Amino acid sequence: MTDGGQDMYNLDLLGQDVSQGEITRDFDFSALSRWPEPEADNLQGSDATDELLLDTADILSALTRSNGQDELRIVTLNDGFGALSLPLQQFARGNSLNWTITAWNDSLSREQAISNNATQLGLPSPVATQLKLQEVVSGAVVILIQAPRSLSELRQLIEATALAASADVLVLVGGRQKYLTLSINDVLGEYFNEVRAGRARSKSRVIAATGKRPLPENYVSAFPVRSEPKTLAGIPLKLAAYGATFGGTNIDPGTRFFLETLKLTFGDSAEFPDSIVDLGCGNGTISSFFPLQFPKFSGRMLATDSSRDAVAATQETAILNNEADRVVAVRDDAMSTFPDKSEELILLNPPFHVGNTVDPNIALKLFRASARVLKNNGELWCVWNSHLNYKHDLNRIVGPTTEIAKNRKFTVTRSLKRA
Ligand SMILES: C[S@@+](CC[C@H](N)C(=O)[O-])C[C@H]1O[C@@H](n2cnc3c(N)ncnc32)[C@H](O)[C@@H]1O
Repeated sequence: MTDGGQDMYNLDLLGQDVSQGEITRDFDFSALSRWPEPEADNLQGSDATDELLLDTADILSALTRSNGQDELRIVTLNDGFGALSLPLQQFARGNSLNWTITAWNDSLSREQAISNNATQLGLPSPVATQLKLQEVVSGAVVILIQAPRSLSELRQLIEATALAASADVLVLVGGRQKYLTLSINDVLGEYFNEVRAGRARSKSRVIAATGKRPLPENYVSAFPVRSEPKTLAGIPLKLAAYGATFGGTNIDPGTRFFLETLKLTFGDSAEFPDSIVDLGCGNGTISSFFPLQFPKFSGRMLATDSSRDAVAATQETAILNNEADRVVAVRDDAMSTFPDKSEELILLNPPFHVGNTVDPNIALKLFRASARVLKNNGELWCVWNSHLNYKHDLNRIVGPTTEIAKNRKFTVTRSLKRA
C-alpha cells in the first residue's frame, strides 16, 4: 500500500471512454423502485451516472484490489434508490467476494427505498440508518458518490471522507454533466492531492480523487454552520445548518412571509394546542421562531423532516435560541410515525423539488399525510409559490381551504380537516 493511495490508481485511464463492465451488465436497473418516494413516468430509480460510477470503479481496478478473501470496504453516498449499492451487493454475492457495502443517505425515504429494493432483489439491506456519516466512511477504501444538489452537502461528505476513510481511499463523484461545476473539483482538491475528471458518457461524468491530504491536528469541522442573529418580524433568530439542510442558514422567503402572516392573523391573544407540528422543518426556522413570536404558546413544537441534516439543524437552531426544551425534532417520512387524528395544527412550507426535478407529488404526499394526522376540524397552514396553485389540491385532500394572504410570489392558506 502506498501513502495516500495516490500511486495506486492510474487516473490517466480516465482519458479513455468507459465501457460497460460486469457489474452493470448483469444488474436489472429497471427493477429499482422509488417507493416510498412518489413514482411517476419521468422519475426513474437510477440514471446513467450510477452506471458510469460503477463502470469507472471497474476500469480503475478499484474493486479488484482485494483478492476476494480480504475485506473490501465500499461506501455509497447519496445513492438514490440503491442503483450503486445493490449492483455491488449482487455482484459480490454472485462471486463470493468479501465486500462490505454500506449505503448512506440524508433522506430517510431514500434509505427506505434502498432497503425495499434490496428486499425485492433478495439482498440484505446495505443501509446504515443509525450510523453517523463519519462512522459509515470510517476505513472505506472505495467511496462512490452521486453528486448532491448543493456544494455544502458535497463538502460535508468529502470532509468526513478526509477525516475517516482509509488513507488510500478512491473517491468517485458522478453527476449529470449540466449540474457538475468546477467548484466540485475545487472542493475535492482541498482534501485530495489528485483530482481528475473522466470522459462524459450519456450526459454524465465522473470526477475521481485520490491521495488524501493530511488535515491539521486542530482541524475543526465546517459543520454545523451557525449564523449571526437575523431579524424576522422584529425578533432576532439564529440559524444552524448542516451540509444538506434545505436553505442553509437562510430564512426562506416563503417562510418569512408565512410567519409574518401568522403573526398578523393570530394576533397576540390566540389560543394554541399543546403541540404544533412543523412539517418539513428544514433548518428549524418555524420551530424556534413560533414560541418566540407567540409567548402565549406554552406547548411543544413537533419538528419533523425526512432529512437527517434538517433534523440535526433544527435541534441545533433550537439550542442557539434557547428553545431546546420546546422543540422535539424527529426524522420521519411524511409523519409516518404520527398516529391518525392526533394533531390540531400543522405548519408546512412544502418542497417542490425532488433532487433536481420539479415534482408536485412530494407536496401532495405531505398534504395527504396532514389529512391523516389532523383531528377533525384541525388546521393545516401552508405557504406555497403562487404559481403552483395548490388550493384545489388542498381542498380536495384536506378540506375547505381559505386563502389568508398573498404577495407577488407566495400564497398562505388555511385548510380545515374535513370531518
Ligand atoms: C421548502 S423546505 C422548508 C424548510 C423549512 N420548514 C423552512 O421553512 O425553511 C421543505 C422541507 O421538506 C422536507 N421534506 C421533503 N420530503 C419530506 C418527507 N417525505 N417527509 C418530511 N419532510 C420532507 C425537506 O427535507 C425540506 O427540509
